[in-house]
Amino acid sequence: MGLRKILTDKDPALHKVCRPVEKFDWRLHKLLDDMADTLAEANGVGLAAPQVGILRRAVVVDTGEEVLELVNPTLVETSGEQTGAEGCLSVPGKYGLVKRPYYAKVRAQDRNGEWFEAEGEGLIGRCFCHELDHLDGIMYTEIMERFLTEEELAGEDE
Ligand code: NI
Repeated sequence: MGLRKILTDKDPALHKVCRPVEKFDWRLHKLLDDMADTLAEANGVGLAAPQVGILRRAVVVDTGEEVLELVNPTLVETSGEQTGAEGCLSVPGKYGLVKRPYYAKVRAQDRNGEWFEAEGEGLIGRCFCHELDHLDGIMYTEIMERFLTEEELAGEDE
């Protein structure tokens, strides 16, 4: 297990545009392995490299079936719309109301540099958009309508 510290909102690393990954070497593999471990430990859905202080374009997303590694990802297609609760491991304990596409397709490289596409809807579509925003230094708190209240959050899980 390689756990990395998850930075919180105040950290400047979360507000910078990340550079592309250029080397698909052991360092990248270790970063992706550590990010997957850190994500699992935190019970999260997605984690972006800047959240662990690495300003490179890499994210991991747990789809429930597998942990997708997206290196240098771009959104190639979106459709529909959803407005719902969104959280972030860098903003612990809070959730905001955020409008996102319902469906998103991304094109990305794997850990060896091979290009592939992945698609998701609902929570996963939302997660792709959220994680890709991190690579451009955008936090959901900058685009949300508002934070959800504790009463609203209590009602969400029934
Ligand atoms: Ni986040």
